[in-house]
Amino acid sequence: MFARYRKNTQSQPVKAVEAVPERSAPKSAAPTAAQAGQRRLGSQAKPASATPVAADRTLQRKQRMNTIKSELHKRLLENLNLSALEHASEAELRSEITTIVAEALSEMDVVLNSEERTTLNKELYFEVMGLGPLEPLLQDDSINDILVNGPKQIFIERAGKLELSDVTFRDERHLLRIIDKIVSAVGRRVDESNPYVDARLADGSRFNAMVPPVAVDGSLVSIRKFKKEKLSVDDLVRFGAFSEEMALYLEAAVATRLNVIVSGGTGSGKTTTLNALSSFIGNEERVLTIEDTAELQLQQIHVGRMESRPANMEGKGAVTQRDCLRNALRMRPDRIIVGETRGEEVIDMLQAMNTGHDGSMTTIHANSARDGISRLENMVAMAGIEMPLRAVRSQIGSAVNLIVQASRLQDGSRRMTSITEVTGMEGEIITMQEIFRFERTGLEPDGTILGHFTGTGLRSHHSDRFKRWGYDLPASIYDEVSGRR
Ligand SMILES: Nc1ncnc2c1ncn2[C@@H]1O[C@H](COP(=O)(O)OP(=O)(O)OP(=O)(O)O)[C@@H](O)[C@H]1O
Ligand SMILES: [Mg+2]
Repeated sequence: MFARYRKNTQSQPVKAVEAVPERSAPKSAAPTAAQAGQRRLGSQAKPASATPVAADRTLQRKQRMNTIKSELHKRLLENLNLSALEHASEAELRSEITTIVAEALSEMDVVLNSEERTTLNKELYFEVMGLGPLEPLLQDDSINDILVNGPKQIFIERAGKLELSDVTFRDERHLLRIIDKIVSAVGRRVDESNPYVDARLADGSRFNAMVPPVAVDGSLVSIRKFKKEKLSVDDLVRFGAFSEEMALYLEAAVATRLNVIVSGGTGSGKTTTLNALSSFIGNEERVLTIEDTAELQLQQIHVGRMESRPANMEGKGAVTQRDCLRNALRMRPDRIIVGETRGEEVIDMLQAMNTGHDGSMTTIHANSARDGISRLENMVAMAGIEMPLRAVRSQIGSAVNLIVQASRLQDGSRRMTSITEVTGMEGEIITMQEIFRFERTGLEPDGTILGHFTGTGLRSHHSDRFKRWGYDLPASIYDEVSGRR
């Protein structure tokens, strides 16, 4: 029908079907539709004692489907004219795949019910055009993260909880082929000599892979799904990530151009928080963003986005976050947002915060505000800057105004567990005061953490500034509350 998508090799000899164990049975042994129907009926009405047999049969069926799938996939690749596919519409392709599959199944003497055929067609479409078994997970909007530990174990994160999915790859080669497809699309390579890679999927999702032998039990893949609809401040308040009082305070802090650091562990919601906070930036300001993988989606009109890049295969062409940041300073920004500060760029970030780019923001990996300060100190030391500790601290103390702590709690919920202001220096010590915090009060039997947000009773160090800028926050937002929310 859509012969232009077929290679001109129609007359290829039809291969014998020996690669598929069950399908290698003679035609008469293939189950008839009635037999298949009986089997399905039987499995519905079976007694409890038959469960292991049924499980065994399901496994056999799954294995058989896998073998059929890999044979069909091979045939599809042999038959499809891949370069013509680029111009085909999805409907045309699906229809072509369905036709080729139907022909191949009949040549292979395999009978499948319509549900199996539909699943097979869909999976083969994903194999040819998409990312194979990962594709349905990528399309499922309720999934945040996909974590692959070798070909047979794919975990997904849904509503803050990790669960093992029933999706698997056929084998390590299959997994490696999909990894290769992803990384070659962005001009990278991953192999034994180059065993790990960062990339961005076509839909914007963040992708990291590490292959054997460095990954001991099979390739490791992590995908942070890109959400088109970012969580807004209102969403986050509604989900209980922070309180309305905290939102009011944060609005004043960002709008009056305090320098903010969002601190938190991995996957704790730092980028989401940073993105939501950026909504308080005025439209008249020029904002430059710098990230390793562009995830931020600012709503302002005047935004310049930069993405660092690793060296190419010859080890050349790297553009670091620091390079971007230094360049950004020459681009007349009002504010600079660095997706995550993790290395030598810390120096330039602190300098930018100290020299007229107030209102700059970044995230760091740390477990508390105090820990965040130590991380910054360590980053400065590791960047090879010879500076007395006191000088480093005074740089940090005057650059950073606010540390917002994001946490992923044991029950999977993500909350802003603390908002802390940096108030200055006392001797060699950076002084801070916590303004809001999440107070845990208990644990439900199902593991849900009980608690509420509260002020600490301390008024913001910046109250006068807020007032001068037109943000006259009621003093009551700082009050301690008990047992609410
Ligand atoms: N308060 C929240 N409620 C529900 N989901 C959230 C919340 N905050 C973040 N998420 C979701 O959790 C996932 C991780 O969030 P995010 O990317 O912001 O974390 P991160 O701390 O930046 O992670 P990383 O350390 O990997 O960069 C995302 O899919 C995001 O949509
Ligand atoms: Mg992040």
